[in-house]
Amino acid sequence: MTNTTHSTQPTQPSRLTAENPTTVLLGGDLPVRRLGYGTMRLADGPGDPTGPEARIWTAPADRDAAIALLRTAVELGVQLIDTADAYALGAGEELIADALHPYRDDLMIATKVGVVRPSPTEWVPLGHPAYLRQQTELSLRRLRTDRIDLLQLHRIDPAYPVAEQLGALKQLQEEGKVRHIGLSEVTVEQIREAEETAPVASVQNLYNLATRGHEDVVTYTAGQGIAFLPFFPVAMGAHAAPGGPLDTIAHELGATAAQTALAWLLHRSPTVLPIPGTTSAAHLAENVGALEVALDAEQFARIEAATQG
Ligand SMILES: NC(=O)c1ccc[n+]([C@@H]2O[C@H](COP(=O)([O-])OP(=O)(O)OC[C@H]3O[C@@H](n4cnc5c(N)ncnc54)[C@H](OP(=O)(O)O)[C@@H]3O)[C@@H](O)[C@H]2O)c1
Repeated sequence: MTNTTHSTQPTQPSRLTAENPTTVLLGGDLPVRRLGYGTMRLADGPGDPTGPEARIWTAPADRDAAIALLRTAVELGVQLIDTADAYALGAGEELIADALHPYRDDLMIATKVGVVRPSPTEWVPLGHPAYLRQQTELSLRRLRTDRIDLLQLHRIDPAYPVAEQLGALKQLQEEGKVRHIGLSEVTVEQIREAEETAPVASVQNLYNLATRGHEDVVTYTAGQGIAFLPFFPVAMGAHAAPGGPLDTIAHELGATAAQTALAWLLHRSPTVLPIPGTTSAAHLAENVGALEVALDAEQFARIEAATQG
């Protein structure tokens, strides 16, 4: 069960400091800058929907632009690139390999298995352990690597025991094909259940200023040192309207509303690692710049008060 009622005071002091640093230790051993890049929207041709209904079905129409954007992300200091086997039916992973292979030592590629795409509008969990193994083998081939830094179970499939799904990933980890294991769109109870089978290095859930259903997961992961990767992190809701609370604080900070929304996430917990997605080089640079936005405790609290409930 998620909990939307309790306080979300930052679990650490509110500036990015030694206690609330610019990096998180993924799985306890991989330092990663806390502003990644989500690549889901590097897909499809012009005119395709870009909202939540986006198809994410084919490789991007402008492949060169997508490759340039991925390289720019790394040049800007991004150390975690998020993808999935389901994005454009594997073409998303191939794109990343074309852009970034051979990978820098300090660059983590995070992918996901466990969702099938029978059509452009369907995303169906499939957690058969043999399927999870097969898909990981395919991801290894497409990413042109012999070990995936972070393999996330895209969804827990209720048709199979959690222990069997995590067991398949654990086996891959023991074989050296996976460094760390993550989960996606899970409750605290599901994280605890998964941890009975395998160590959980990360959780990727829908969470942003306007959508706060996973407060208890953010707090739990902070306490456990588990990285929390909020997806749709830039969504700012009505609070970002001109003259609204986010806009006002953004002006005080000399930042944009998107940067202020990302800065709020970064200050919410020291293990939060947003993975904003964009097809724009300007937005990419803007988003990475959120790491430099010095939100203070009073500003954090004001955003909190204006956007809660
Ligand atoms: N685990 C899951 O089930 C799951 C589900 C969804 C997404 N994800 C992951 O999370 C990542 C992030 O999600 P997302 O890409 O859908 O959502 P997002 O990062 O919140 O935002 C994407 C949208 O915001 C716009 N945007 C980005 N930066 C902006 C800025 N600085 N100012 C104004 N607009 C900005 C983008 O448009 P422009 O292209 O014009 O910048 C795009 O329309 C995905 O890429 C994917 O890796 C995971």
